[in-house]
Amino acid sequence: WFAGVQMGPPDAILGVTEAFKRDTNPKKINLGVGAYRDDNGKPWVLPSVRKAEERIVAKQLDKEYATIIGVPDFYNKAIELALGKDSERLREKHNATTQSISGTGALRIGAAFLSKFWQGNREVYVPTPTWGNHVPIFEHSGLPVKKYRYYDPKTCGLDVKGCFEDISKIPEKSIVLLHACAHNPTGVDLSAEQWKELSQLIKKKNLFPFFDMAYQGFASGDVDHDAQAVRIFEKDGHLYCLAQSFAKNMGLYGERAGAYSVISASKEEADRVISQIKILIRALYSNPPINGARLAAEILNDQELRAIWLKDVKTMADRIINIRAQLKGNLVKLGSSRSWDHITNQIGMFCYTGMTAENVERLSKEFSIYLTKDGRISMAGVTSKNVDYLAHAMHEVTK
Ligand code: LMR
Repeated sequence: WFAGVQMGPPDAILGVTEAFKRDTNPKKINLGVGAYRDDNGKPWVLPSVRKAEERIVAKQLDKEYATIIGVPDFYNKAIELALGKDSERLREKHNATTQSISGTGALRIGAAFLSKFWQGNREVYVPTPTWGNHVPIFEHSGLPVKKYRYYDPKTCGLDVKGCFEDISKIPEKSIVLLHACAHNPTGVDLSAEQWKELSQLIKKKNLFPFFDMAYQGFASGDVDHDAQAVRIFEKDGHLYCLAQSFAKNMGLYGERAGAYSVISASKEEADRVISQIKILIRALYSNPPINGARLAAEILNDQELRAIWLKDVKTMADRIINIRAQLKGNLVKLGSSRSWDHITNQIGMFCYTGMTAENVERLSKEFSIYLTKDGRISMAGVTSKNVDYLAHAMHEVTK
């Protein structure tokens, strides 16, 4: 039956970990997948999450199914975290919000919903480059993907002109995917002023914004600051949708806690939208896992735990900001003739180094340093112990 099935390639991001695991060099470094590590290179369970876990165990909760759209104490707080406590839209219940299987699941529900109900142009416009999984998620749902310019390889920064030019040419009533903060893979974000301008342009062009917010708090260490793009659009009265992940900002990677919201024109519209989302989810996976949502809900609904969590988020963001400075400093000290300013100018989990596929191959072959072919480094894998070795290797392959 399956004789004709061809071998598929390893995943561009997750496949890097497989190659890393096979390497026996004790100096090996995995800078592939975006997953936070502490300064000893170890996964970090946030103290706020540990506390939440203890409280949940003590409650001796049952293991019944959640509703189709998940745990209300979780998803209601999740959307509030994004839009802020004072959001009028939330007060008036214009949001159709569901729990999702982390960010990927949120995107997938959104893609399924738009594929079935979007009345405009079916094309989804994504930035160049974008997260490797965006294109398959939309295509898998039957929505063709097109690109808009975003990153300028010459400056390793934003291609402002290209980005605005391309978005202004997108046909009316198309869907445009925006990374809310800590753009993956480039670490290059718009400034608040640029977001305001983009919001006006998208409104004028009558496009539908689809925000992917996988790193709220992780970029700057401040959850409100990192939500600025979404809140600017919110203030400008857009109708839009939003995918949220709690993998990075709560370190809940394997717990798969996320949320998807459609910000609708009225409560009545939101009610209709969520009724259809329920039908789609039932066919996709019936209902979501409960543990991660309970953990996040415990944190978001409790003043004391929430305060600890906000400190945890800042600890992670600050470590990454610091290690960026060290990596750049080391490259300068080694006498690299290149400018490495973008290492500290870019933010969030990733640095888009500008290294070529050939450089990357040399890094893995000669130094046992693993990253994605596009030259993206997961900064979370860099520590005070391996930063010298990494800088040396980067300098050697880019001389
Ligand atoms: C990444 O880009 O490395 C993360 O978002 C993890 C993933 O699922 O790809």
